[in-house]
Amino acid sequence: MKILAINGSPRKNGNTAKLLDTVLEVCEQAGLDIQLYQAGGRDVHGCRGCTACWQNKGRCVIDDWMNELYLKMKAADALVLGSPTYCFNVTSEIKSIIDRTSYISRADGFAFSRKVAAGVSAVRRAGGITTLDSMQRFFLINDMIVPGSTYLNVSLACTVGDAEKDDEGMRTMRRLGENIVWLLKKIHAAA
Ligand SMILES: Cc1cc2nc3c(=O)[nH]c(=O)nc-3n(C[C@H](O)[C@H](O)[C@H](O)COP(=O)(O)O)c2cc1C
Repeated sequence: MKILAINGSPRKNGNTAKLLDTVLEVCEQAGLDIQLYQAGGRDVHGCRGCTACWQNKGRCVIDDWMNELYLKMKAADALVLGSPTYCFNVTSEIKSIIDRTSYISRADGFAFSRKVAAGVSAVRRAGGITTLDSMQRFFLINDMIVPGSTYLNVSLACTVGDAEKDDEGMRTMRRLGENIVWLLKKIHAAA
């Protein structure tokens, strides 16, 4: 089973990366095939609203990294989106992924149906819950299944290295990883 984590922070080795690595480490130890995609820092194009993806059977007319990422998302059994909180919400890169792959996947027959999906956010002080909500709404309207943890998946972190000092945040990420594995095994056993 495959899990794909997407880092929406332009800081490749920052706090969001630490959160995603922590979730992935648990998943790897449980035998999952793990992959990390660095989205933060890439050129961002918003959805044009042209609906060409409906004619193109799930391919966006904007010729950039999104089509490559979409195929990786489609191939994964579980997705973890990571975004630092930027002005009380997700980064532009994550918003672009939410808007564009929502349409692309629907045009491709709801290709994200029943994937296990979770969002995580690094936040200095305020807005982490709104950031999580934005990612969770994306999962829920695209027929995905969202596991919980022992708290909401946020870590209080400002400068690089802060995330690992937030013990509760780290515990929350590890439990999230365990719950993703648990849920994936149940789903695959039942299928
Ligand atoms: C443009 C920008 C906007 C930010 N907005 C917020 C915010 O609304 N609330 C907050 O608590 N922290 C905010 N921060 C701080 C980041 O969320 C915090 O530094 C986080 O740890 C960055 O994660 P990273 O290392 O993965 O990039 C902002 C940082 C930047 C660069």
